Order: sequence, then structure tokens, then C-alpha cells
Amino acid sequence: MSGAEGAGGFFANDQVPLEALRRQAFNLRWASQPDDVIPLTAADPDFAVAPVVREAIARQAAEGLFCYGPAAGLPAFREACARWSTEGRGVACGPERVLAVDGAAAGMRHICRLLLRPGDEAIVFDPVDFLFAAAVEAAGGRVRRLPVDPLSGELALDRLDSLVTPRTRLLGVCNPLNPVGRVLREPELVALGAFAERHNLAILNDEVWADIVFAPHRFVSLAAVDGAVAKRCWSVQGFSKNYGLAGLRVGCVVAPDAAGCTALAQAALTDTTMGGVATLSQIAAVAALEGAGDWLAAWLAHLQGQRDRAVAALAAMPGVLVRPPEGTYTLFPRVPHHGLGPEALVERLRQRQRLAVVPGAPRWFGPGAAGHLRLVFSTSEAILTEGLERLRRGVEELAGEGGETVGP
Ligand SMILES: Cc1ncc(COP(=O)(O)O)c(C=O)c1O
Repeated sequence: MSGAEGAGGFFANDQVPLEALRRQAFNLRWASQPDDVIPLTAADPDFAVAPVVREAIARQAAEGLFCYGPAAGLPAFREACARWSTEGRGVACGPERVLAVDGAAAGMRHICRLLLRPGDEAIVFDPVDFLFAAAVEAAGGRVRRLPVDPLSGELALDRLDSLVTPRTRLLGVCNPLNPVGRVLREPELVALGAFAERHNLAILNDEVWADIVFAPHRFVSLAAVDGAVAKRCWSVQGFSKNYGLAGLRVGCVVAPDAAGCTALAQAALTDTTMGGVATLSQIAAVAALEGAGDWLAAWLAHLQGQRDRAVAALAAMPGVLVRPPEGTYTLFPRVPHHGLGPEALVERLRQRQRLAVVPGAPRWFGPGAAGHLRLVFSTSEAILTEGLERLRRGVEELAGEGGETVGP
């Protein structure tokens, strides 16, 4: 395979292994739905991973050894992640700052466990992926929410200071922002960093979507804008969205320094064998970072086409408002609910149209998600087109019955 163009064949309509997905893709997706339901739910690709990743796993399997690994991660993994941070994110770091974690979500949980005491507060975006609140609350903390415009993705930065209390310890930053699809601009990052400095807050800096950014937008890491702010950043990186390794449960945290990494390893219980990441998963991640660049470029090109297709289809639906995501493969249109609650609307789409999407409900994204639905476009053109056609039918049917639009 040479170059992204050749790799583009990986994302053709006939490359979605539906039968296998129906057995293996859980978390609201194919294996969690009746066979005739199309899931545009959890952000997880419908395609096989890069051949180079499969080959690396097969090589290790052929060797037949699956020994305990080192507590903070395999040296090759920590080194590959440090290079990724330095070259890919513009955040110079060595392997001593990298902790292997069993998924970005686990990284978020470990960071909160390390930095928060029961009753402490963290400021998170609203709407944002539920994992922020889940990680904070798992550590006994409480979230206070910074409003984000769910269509434009603009942050209410002028509200930040009013959210601070004597218990505030942490600022959660999701960049690019799931579900809104916004890629934060440098001045916003500067403002967030200055705010954290002013109030002496640590930063849970979630960058799991940083490889999925559409031109002309450009990803800038919060940890790259200012040296002092970098010292506050606990940056979470993942392999689920970019390389499709969600089921291998692997990610990494780049700690502010080596001592922070050691403390995080203790909080994650990796210094005992109660915590830690499967070595096979780390080997797969290294193969992805070192050999799947063309595959990733082709994945991004496919996603850009999918995004444009989806935005055009959504914009043509009655009463639906949508903005093209700048990054991520999540869409967050405002959809008339005609008096139905978010869960009821989604259940109706599932029952009548055989389409599964994620409701704009507080439990998924916070109260700021009201009136919206989240859908993903990490599938084939054919499946996305059919899924959107089902959504159109559902939206039109409701508009026909409901008359007046009462939101959300
Ligand atoms: C913003 C954000 N953070 C973290 C995660 C979790 O990623 P992982 O599969 O590596 O745990 C997700 C997955 O949807 C996400 O959207």
C-alpha cells in the first residue's frame, strides 16, 4: 500500500464487516441493537484497523509470550507516545512523563482520583462528553459547567470566573470538543490557561480527538501555548478515534513532569499489578503510531466526505440546524422535539425508523445539550446515507403530526 490514495479503498462501502460488527460492536452500536437498526451512536469506526496494526498483533501472537509489562508501560510505548506528543502535538516531552492507561477514559478517571478529594469541584464544558462528569464524580468531586453554544461551539469565557469557589481544583478541557465538533482557537486556549493560572487549577486536557481535524482548521494543544500552563496540563491521548483501537483499551497520559507521572501511576494502581494496560494493546498502539500514517490520512479524507454529506442532508431537513464540525466525527444538530423529551424522541426514532442516535440528554452531555441529537459519521457512505434518510423520515413525520415546534 503506498500513500493515502491507495489506502482510501479501506473505507469503501463493501469494507464494513456488518456480520462481524453485529457480533462484536457493543456500547450502543451494532451488537447492542436489533439487526435492522442502524446505529450512528458511539464514536467508534465501522471499519477494520490498519493492516500494520493487525500484523504487529499477529507477530506478537506468533511469538507466544504475554509476560507482565513494566508498571508505567512498555519502554517502546512510552517512547512512541513521547515522540507523538513532541512531533504531533508540539509538546516536547520525554518518555518519563508518559503513563500507559487502559483507554483515555481510564486516564481521565486516574487524573481525577489523583487530583481531587471528595467535595472538590471541577469546571467542565456544557455540553461535553459525559466522561468528564463521570471521572470527576467517581473521585467524589462535583462539576460546575461552563456554557458552550451547542451550535457554534463558542465558550462563554466571560462566565469562567463566576464558576470558581474555594473548592475548585480542576479545569476540564475537551479539544477538539465532542459532541459539538469545535476545534479551540489559540486565543481561547490562552484565556483558559490564564484562568487556570489565576486560580491555581490543574487542567485535565483531553485531546483524544486531536488527529481528527478537518482543513483548514488546525489543532493547537493547550500544553503548547504557554510554558507555565503546560506545567498544569495532564494531557490525555487515545487510540480509539484515530486508529479504531477502542476494544484494545489503550491510551496514554502525558503528565506535567516525571514526578507527576509516578504519582499518577500510583493513583492508577499500576505500581501493583491491580492496574496497567495489556502489553498486546501497547504493541498495537506503537504499530499504529509508527506505521499507520497513510491509513490515518485516508481515514481523515473519508471522514471529510462523510461530514460534508451529512451536513448537507441535515441542513435540508425541516427545522434542523447544523454546523459542520471542524474536528471529531460527531454531529450535534438542533432537531425539533415537538414536546418530546430527548430520550422519548430517540426511542421513537429507533422504534419507527430503525435508527439509533444519542439523545441530547443531561446524562450524556450535560443540560446544555437540550434540543440536540448526537450522531456519528464514522461509517460507510451507504450506511450514513441510509441512516440520514431514516432521520429525515422521522423528523418529517414528527413535523407532520406535531404542527408547532416546542423545544426541546
Ligand atoms: C472526549 C472523549 N474523551 C475520552 C473518550 C474515551 O476514549 P477511550 O476509548 O480511549 O477511552 C472519548 C470517547 O468517546 C471522548 O469522546
